[in-house]
Amino acid sequence: MYKTLKEVTQTAEELNMTIGAFNTHNLEMLPEMIRAAKEMGSPIIIQTSIDTAKYIGYDVMVAVVKEIANTELVDVALHLDHARDFNEIKAAIDAGYSSVMYDGSHLPFKENIAKTKAVVEYAHAKGVSVEGELGTIGGTEEGISVAENDKVYTKPEDAVAFVAQTNIDALAIAIGTNHGQFKSKTEVNIPLLKEIHQVVDVPLVIHGGTGVKEEDYPELINNGIRKFNVGTELLVNWTKVAKESFGETEVNKSLRHNVIPANLAVKEIVKHKIGLFMNVNSPLAMQK
Ligand code: 13P
Repeated sequence: MYKTLKEVTQTAEELNMTIGAFNTHNLEMLPEMIRAAKEMGSPIIIQTSIDTAKYIGYDVMVAVVKEIANTELVDVALHLDHARDFNEIKAAIDAGYSSVMYDGSHLPFKENIAKTKAVVEYAHAKGVSVEGELGTIGGTEEGISVAENDKVYTKPEDAVAFVAQTNIDALAIAIGTNHGQFKSKTEVNIPLLKEIHQVVDVPLVIHGGTGVKEEDYPELINNGIRKFNVGTELLVNWTKVAKESFGETEVNKSLRHNVIPANLAVKEIVKHKIGLFMNVNSPLAMQK
């Protein structure tokens, strides 16, 4: 079924698990990502950048995700990742995305609140969920980079005020993660997460999931992380496998032969991650 971010994170809260939010870069890898969730018995969040949404087409993206969710009987939310342009956010909402992120983390605090609030008003009137961001996540994503020295961790007291004043459905927090970190792993600030979790009552979101150590997942899940973003790991492995297969193939052979192994590599990663996201203590994991 086609779901909102609010609905799937509510399920995660009830089951003490987190929902994987996986970035897709094309339509090729998409069906296998959703099938991975089906095989694991978990909801999934599919997310795109604005550029990917424009490349595929907002309407096409919505139609394809809805169709697969309905035929495969999987709970899927479709989310616009890191949007800073209100017109693009409107385009996604009007086309039928069930969730959007307004990323005002680069703005002064008050301006971030005001702009996020405006997005929430527009989105909620159409039944769409909103993720906001406070603090800055390091690394580079879709051309936006944040240098190590410019990283600002989320302050718990700011998080309380931000959530109360914006009415967001989920909050992305900066606790040491970096976008696009796939050659090394980061030190996540768990004590800070605990402090934020104690005072904030909306689902919390981890960005830069590729660079997070898998052994840290249980602590993150037990402290309120209900949406866990993974992008780079899928992108790197899809490209690696596609390169290998394209390199070995005659030019007149169907593209299928090269693209299917890359899609399946992505599927295996999504399944592996979801297995870890369904905390060992969650009822969904115990059914497996
Ligand atoms: P990675 O690409 O580092 O996994 O991060 C994904 C993400 O946070 C998308 O916003």
